[in-house]
Amino acid sequence: MAAVRARHIPGLPIVKSHTFDPLALRRAFGSFATGVTVITALDEAGAPVGMTANSFGSISLDPPLVQWSLRINSGLHPVFVRAERFAVSVLRSDQESLARRFASRVANRFEGVEMVVAPPGDDSPPLIADAIAHFQCRKVNDIRVGDHELFIGQVLSVETAPGAPLLFFRSQFQAG
Ligand SMILES: Cc1cc2nc3c(=O)[nH]c(=O)nc-3n(C[C@H](O)[C@H](O)[C@H](O)COP(=O)(O)O)c2cc1C
Repeated sequence: MAAVRARHIPGLPIVKSHTFDPLALRRAFGSFATGVTVITALDEAGAPVGMTANSFGSISLDPPLVQWSLRINSGLHPVFVRAERFAVSVLRSDQESLARRFASRVANRFEGVEMVVAPPGDDSPPLIADAIAHFQCRKVNDIRVGDHELFIGQVLSVETAPGAPLLFFRSQFQAG
């Protein structure tokens, strides 16, 4: 078998596995371009919480399963661990301001944001209007992995809409 040789990419320093510089690791992780979601849940009082997440991904078609991960020291960690449901809105290319809003420290992230809300008696978390995909999920597992909590959800319902995605690459938003 031919030997595999590492090639130096100009401008990218080679980092040895045991001496990770956190910034180099972040830059390498961030080289994997993703879409951007807002993940929502209801707290114990029934009030919505939501946050921007690009760790979202599909796991399985049958059964339909998705996953995402949340920093353990996030203020929202206790709410998402307690919640039995979560909902995912995949943002459209013109929704960068919402991505920034749901990652910011504003007092009420939902203020002025157009949401799709469930009818009374339905405990589905609200979704972001005009997103290109919506997932309503029932949490089936959460696992503490490193400094994140990995959530696995069974998809209860989905809908998609036309439109280009908002993308995130090396800490920058881009229109897809
Ligand atoms: C594009 C983007 C993607 C993000 N993805 C995640 C993620 O997958 N998991 C996570 O824990 N935080 C992620 N964050 C950060 C959270 O949105 C942010 O820390 C959170 O909303 C802040 O809530 P806090 O009150 O707990 O600090 C992301 C931020 C941005 C801008």
